[in-house]
Amino acid sequence: LRTPVAIVGAGPAGLVLAHLLHLDGVRSVVLERRDRRYVEGRVRAGLLEQGTADLLRDSGVGGRMDREGQVHEGFELRFDAERHRLSTAELCGRTVTMYGQQEVVKDLIRARTEAGEPPYFGVDDIALGDLTGDTATLRCTLDGEPTVVRADFVAGCDGFHGVTRRGLPAGRPVQYERTYPFAWLGVLSAAPPAGEELIYAVHDRGFALHSMRSPTVSRLYLQVAPDEDLARWPDDRIRAELRTRLCPAGEPLHEGPLSRHGITSMRGFVVEPMQYGRLFLAGDAAHIVPPTAAKGLNLAVADAVVLARALAAWYGRGDREPLDAYTRTCLAHVWQAQEFSAWLTRLFHPHPGEDAMEARLRRARLRHLVTSRAAATDFAEHYTGRARGRVT
Ligand code: FAD
Ligand code: DHB
Repeated sequence: LRTPVAIVGAGPAGLVLAHLLHLDGVRSVVLERRDRRYVEGRVRAGLLEQGTADLLRDSGVGGRMDREGQVHEGFELRFDAERHRLSTAELCGRTVTMYGQQEVVKDLIRARTEAGEPPYFGVDDIALGDLTGDTATLRCTLDGEPTVVRADFVAGCDGFHGVTRRGLPAGRPVQYERTYPFAWLGVLSAAPPAGEELIYAVHDRGFALHSMRSPTVSRLYLQVAPDEDLARWPDDRIRAELRTRLCPAGEPLHEGPLSRHGITSMRGFVVEPMQYGRLFLAGDAAHIVPPTAAKGLNLAVADAVVLARALAAWYGRGDREPLDAYTRTCLAHVWQAQEFSAWLTRLFHPHPGEDAMEARLRRARLRHLVTSRAAATDFAEHYTGRARGRVT
């Protein structure tokens, strides 16, 4: 099989890249390890920065998002049994959109299929070959046949546990990593959200987040131990803990059947460089953020946009410079998001073994955030993200 761009992974990074390349007239093939049902059913992130929502809309795949997603102009912060609202719309003129990652993925898979370039699913044996010669090669089984895929470029969009990062030469890339001494337990609740906006709750027993997927489905997270066993969290315990942390003053919380229980570990990770020869990494394959600031999906999209533009410059006018600058261009937004995610993670979570001094310092930072307009504006800019630029 011969293709200009071979894209490994049909997550947000791979699918956005394929979609934008198609709009620029560049053909590609997406190779995904899992089956379509699995990919479309995987519950993960749900907060789209304004730039991500604009990008999807401007590139023609935002119709359902505009109908079913919810635009949020602010959120609520609870600590010390107080409630504070921050309006990002007022502070920096920007909003976020709540729309599940798997819905974004569904919309993009439909667009690929309608364009006559559906992803290959169930490709679970990809092995990278040459990445520095005249063409890149990879081997896998397609439609039951052992196949050699030859491409001008390979885009590694296969997430943190994928295979493409191993294509970087041993010893050369530098990896930066931080693991946090806690995790998030996440559930979906078949109940209307408590209010119209997200609630971030900082409590001595741990952080809690009340998010949502629709007017009838809530998404809830609890800070738990890093090695937490889900079996120790029957639904009644989850409900009681949510109530304690989210509603210290007896605020309302609707209850419904819980599903999709999962534990998400918390880590920051970046590999530099994000490219080698004809291989370019995008999204979680190159970096991970702790989920606190909801940046993972948005970063994956930001990388895909940079890579799509660089490839379009190469195919359109033979300009190799944007491809050569790919790592440098991406790392600028990657490290901004890493820093904000690390900062917010520190602010919102009592660390195990934290002393009374540190707890007071965190509270002082929270107080500053809700009393200083300058601090709140800075926060709002980071939270809603930067513009991605127009596609068309
Ligand atoms: P992925 O979405 O991981 O996509 C990679 C794709 O590659 C997958 O479809 C995978 O099946 C495929 N693949 C893997 N290996 C191979 C292979 N060898 N060959 C072919 N295909 C392969 N972010 C937030 O902002 N908020 C959240 O609440 C949040 N919750 C999360 C919960 C969980 C459990 C996880 C794992 C992540 C969460 N994230 C969250 C992070 C966010 O979902 C990711 O940052 C985002 O999915 C990154 O997109 P991606 O396209 O880079 O990678
Ligand atoms: C969601 C996750 C986050 O980490 C966040 O800050 C906001 C929303 C979510 O999954 O809905």
